[in-house]
Amino acid sequence: MSMTRFDLNESALGLPEVVRRRVRESADQFHCYPLAQTEQTLARVAEHFGVTRDEVLLTQGIDECVDRLITHFEAMRFVATWPGFHGYWDRIAVMRRRSFALRRVGPTFELACDDVEALERDDFVLLADPDNPTGVVTTQTQLEQLQRRCGRLLVDRTYAGYADAPLAALAPGPRGFYFHSFSKSFAMAGLRVGALIGPAEDIEAMRARQWFCSMSTPSLVAVAAALDHVDEFQDRCRALIEERGRVVADLRARGFRVHETQTNFVIVAADPAVVLPRLAARGMLVKDMGCYGLDGHVRISLRTPAENLALVEAIGDPGAA
Ligand SMILES: Cc1ncc(COP(=O)(O)O)c(C=O)c1O
Repeated sequence: MSMTRFDLNESALGLPEVVRRRVRESADQFHCYPLAQTEQTLARVAEHFGVTRDEVLLTQGIDECVDRLITHFEAMRFVATWPGFHGYWDRIAVMRRRSFALRRVGPTFELACDDVEALERDDFVLLADPDNPTGVVTTQTQLEQLQRRCGRLLVDRTYAGYADAPLAALAPGPRGFYFHSFSKSFAMAGLRVGALIGPAEDIEAMRARQWFCSMSTPSLVAVAAALDHVDEFQDRCRALIEERGRVVADLRARGFRVHETQTNFVIVAADPAVVLPRLAARGMLVKDMGCYGLDGHVRISLRTPAENLALVEAIGDPGAA
């Protein structure tokens, strides 16, 4: 039985035909190193985010981004939230860095005041906003407080496309970084590309350590083409936000406790030992959030309306879950 993946927060829609066509055409250039294409895509990404080319580093996803930061700021202690995205914790562990867990507490997953106050100048905070797994966003006040206390801060915008209001912004200055993933709202998880944006001096030092032509031609072309058709991706995000409202309402109508979310997934209080096998038997994979520090919760990525409806019907009710 083929399984439908509601467990990885991928886009359920493939790339638009106009982007696929540009990628197909780029095959004519596969025998060449992508030197010119790298520069073109860097310029396109910089233009899109309103920064200069020297402030953009293209990375193979968040893993390369975090590794580059950890290597560049080698003396710093790395801080991430808990419950939190295990991707950060995995890289911190692999790179054997000092670390500190910034707890999210209470029903709305506020950052624990004591932990924020304990931050120091040699701390580098990795913050997903909107967050995975909690689905919450950081307020402007919280972000400013974090930025005042810590030495450096990365705001990970992987789920930014799905927020229904403008997100908090870093104060200008040398200490803040953004990461933008092309995996989710740009539907390119298979191409492994993201953009780290930060002070030119740090970005250039990290670029100097990257491999020769580290991004492949199809990835570079897909990103540039997608940015030429941003409206189409934004329409998809708007449709997903509406669909999210329907799915949350349907699950709540069945009696499930569902957290508010500003992402392309919903977090549901339910016993994973019951829900995972029940859905797997119907060909659907969802994620047990225990490994993110949220015991007794499952994460359901939003897919097409028809697939979401099938999942809501298959999940049963909380009594049985
Ligand atoms: C918070 C967060 N950042 C980054 C990523 C992954 O991004 P990428 O596919 O660009 O490596 C994920 C994926 O689930 C995520 O949840």
